[in-house]
Amino acid sequence: MLTRSGAHAPLAWQRKCDRQPDKPRPGSCEKGTGHWLWPRDLLHEIQRKLRVEVVGVELRPPKDQVAVPILRCDAIRETLPPADIAVSLTMVHHLSQDELVRLIRNVGHSCWRFLILDLVRHFIPVALFRAFVAPFVNPINVEDGLRSIERAFTVLELTHIVSEALAGSAASFRLEVAPFCVRQIVDIRN
Ligand SMILES: C[S@@+](CC[C@H](N)C(=O)[O-])C[C@H]1O[C@@H](n2cnc3c(N)ncnc32)[C@H](O)[C@@H]1O
Repeated sequence: MLTRSGAHAPLAWQRKCDRQPDKPRPGSCEKGTGHWLWPRDLLHEIQRKLRVEVVGVELRPPKDQVAVPILRCDAIRETLPPADIAVSLTMVHHLSQDELVRLIRNVGHSCWRFLILDLVRHFIPVALFRAFVAPFVNPINVEDGLRSIERAFTVLELTHIVSEALAGSAASFRLEVAPFCVRQIVDIRN
């Protein structure tokens, strides 16, 4: 499911790149691209504006390919295409703790930086979703949205999982939580 918080991840990444104009423009790889047109359009927009090569990775890629190639690949278990930056957009709440550790280590083999954006399991986003989103969308989307927040990691859980995944390596990470816990972003540098 595409969430509003999820849609902002590439933009956050774009802002990070904008703050470092002297750095070379990186290639990017997004994990769990999904089938929705909007994130694919967003990836295409990133590709066009930043003049970088963007590749999507998805367990079940859409049949109709668009401007951004989306590869059929299990981002946890299979070798990923090399990229400067990997972005995971509202995908990791689908994973168990063990799978997330494996994803982080697998991405580390192909990308020097990994941005993970996801939901936060917390009562505030649940309350905000019930008040400001649920009344305006259909009941299936309400159920899906609430279940996604329930499956998300807490900030503490995500911190522990990323620490475990990087233990013994030279990699470092920073975790930022948005106001009202509407999303969390982990920035891993390998
Ligand atoms: C909630 S959707 C997010 C899609 C898109 N990133 C967005 O923000 O709209 C999660 C996607 O991750 C994909 N996915 C789950 N596990 C995966 C894996 N191990 N490798 C690649 N894709 C995976 C699912 O097939 C699903 O399309």
